[in-house]
Amino acid sequence: MCGVVGYIGSKEAAPILIDGLQRLEYRGYDSAGIAVLNGGKIVSDKEMGRLANLEKLLAKAPLAGSCGIGHTRWATHGAPSQLNSHPHFSSDGAIAVVHNGIIENYAELRNELAAKGHRFLSETDTETVPHLIEQELKEGAASPIEAVQRALKKLRGAYALGILFRDAPDTVYCARLGSPLIIGLGEKENFIASDVPAIINRISKAIYLNDGEMAVLRADSVEVCTIEGEAVEPEVKEISFKAEDAEHAGFETFMLKEIHEQPRVLRALLEKHVSADGTIEIGSGLSPDYFRKLRRIMIVSCGTAYHAGMYGKLLLENLTGIAVETDLASEFRYRDPKIDPGTLVIPVSQSGETADTLASIRMAKDWGCKIFSICNVEGSSVVRESDATFFTNCGPEIGVASTKAYTAQQMAFALFALYIAGVRGNLTPEQVKDYLDDLHEVPDAVHYVIQKKEEIRVIGEKHHDGPSSLYLGRKFNFPTALEGALKNKEISYQHAEGYAAGEMKHGPIALISEALPVICICTKTADEVYEKMLSNIKEVEARNGRIIAVATEGDTEIPKLAGDIIYVPEVRDEFTPMVNVVALQLLAYYAARARGTDIDKPRNLAKSVTVE
Ligand code: AGP
Repeated sequence: MCGVVGYIGSKEAAPILIDGLQRLEYRGYDSAGIAVLNGGKIVSDKEMGRLANLEKLLAKAPLAGSCGIGHTRWATHGAPSQLNSHPHFSSDGAIAVVHNGIIENYAELRNELAAKGHRFLSETDTETVPHLIEQELKEGAASPIEAVQRALKKLRGAYALGILFRDAPDTVYCARLGSPLIIGLGEKENFIASDVPAIINRISKAIYLNDGEMAVLRADSVEVCTIEGEAVEPEVKEISFKAEDAEHAGFETFMLKEIHEQPRVLRALLEKHVSADGTIEIGSGLSPDYFRKLRRIMIVSCGTAYHAGMYGKLLLENLTGIAVETDLASEFRYRDPKIDPGTLVIPVSQSGETADTLASIRMAKDWGCKIFSICNVEGSSVVRESDATFFTNCGPEIGVASTKAYTAQQMAFALFALYIAGVRGNLTPEQVKDYLDDLHEVPDAVHYVIQKKEEIRVIGEKHHDGPSSLYLGRKFNFPTALEGALKNKEISYQHAEGYAAGEMKHGPIALISEALPVICICTKTADEVYEKMLSNIKEVEARNGRIIAVATEGDTEIPKLAGDIIYVPEVRDEFTPMVNVVALQLLAYYAARARGTDIDKPRNLAKSVTVE
């Protein structure tokens, strides 16, 4: 996903823009560039590959000026290339634009502009924008802001834009539709950014632009209006996390740091949402009576968040008696799922900007459904479009592979399910308390697993070299198997497949050989699932499969079957996924490190998939 930054103030802009782009690297990119206003002209540099390449250019020939915009590009229209990198310019070089999003009608606009003499250098949709603004000025727009407004009305699609005009010194223009854009408020300096981490070290207050709004930034002023020109009195928000939350803090990678943050994040959620007398507060704008009458829930999400949704479905069904369905947002949005206004739709999203999840929310709202989201980013699009949100409050998750956000989403579902079960009377207050007592054991159990990381490292390094691996789990830990496989895939690039263990005989058992690591999640359960899992492991062992087990401390059966075992503390069945997945996060981490991949920024991946 592309990253946008901008600065206006009294300091040199280039170093600030580069610092901001470095803090956005986690979003994934293939090229970068900046443009700076300098003595009546716009100077610019852009380069393929990592930001370091751009920095080398700037070291040789610095760009002076205290007003500028910057961009990291994750190619959508036009291959990664220097020419396709942002910023893009108007024909006369007097307008520079950086963009995150997709201009869906760019082809027809390009044709119209070409017919008026415009020539394009790149294959991008973005390059249409500066040319369109330029044309509006030619056709009578009286000012840069009017030219921007006229141009934006002709655009279809999504954009977060940063714009410079050679003839409008010391001013940054910006606009938002469908892609996030934040205005950071400083002391006699102001910023724009796609995400708070880009400027977290420079501001404590921000304006989250709304769709259809634009702003004009000067060193000592920010004017917000709609693209129709109506003035807007923006809401100024305090930033809820600190700069160090977006730093490595001594860890070799953000992902490892974020794995280690999980006990604290989970404890903080329990402290925030469970009072001393055991009352659960979910902060929803939906009344207890709404939940008493609720008959159906639909959970929609993508990737790791989808696995959290699968877990949430099992918990909610088990504890509340409500019919719960979960679906991939990219599938849901093209279905005809027969949901009615009485269905509660729960989108789960760390970033709050995932395109398919947003599209599903809009569809559900068209059906009249209430939206209760689980999200990590205040001011994000998912939050704005929900009736209520349960914030996972993890702080920024910089590593592309989601870890702390996942276990926090699971904790959110656990608290949500217990809250609903309590208000509906599925559980007595005493039963809710029992569950909460067990839930409070989870952070320490997670901490215990993290302390075993050296043992897990040895196992990860031992099994990282095969072409593939198979992850097996049942019931609450079937989503855990899927999530463990996804972690391994996305950071180690070793193919991995998560499967319901009960499905072994229906096909995957054909894969078993000593070359295939089979990761079996087989922690003790109060029901027969543990015995069934043992049988699956015996099937693998009988065929010389290479077994890595996640097992409960003290288990005496597993050592007879598994070559490598990761022991985890015993917690209540329903809560084992939050503990077991940490073992798999670390297993994938050390496999990836052995394979030498870029763990925080895996190839081809972006932190938030804001396009389809
Ligand atoms: C998880 O490790 C991946 N980075 C990815 O699957 C992610 O969970 C998915 O894109 C959903 O993102 P979201 O939670 O921000 O909506």
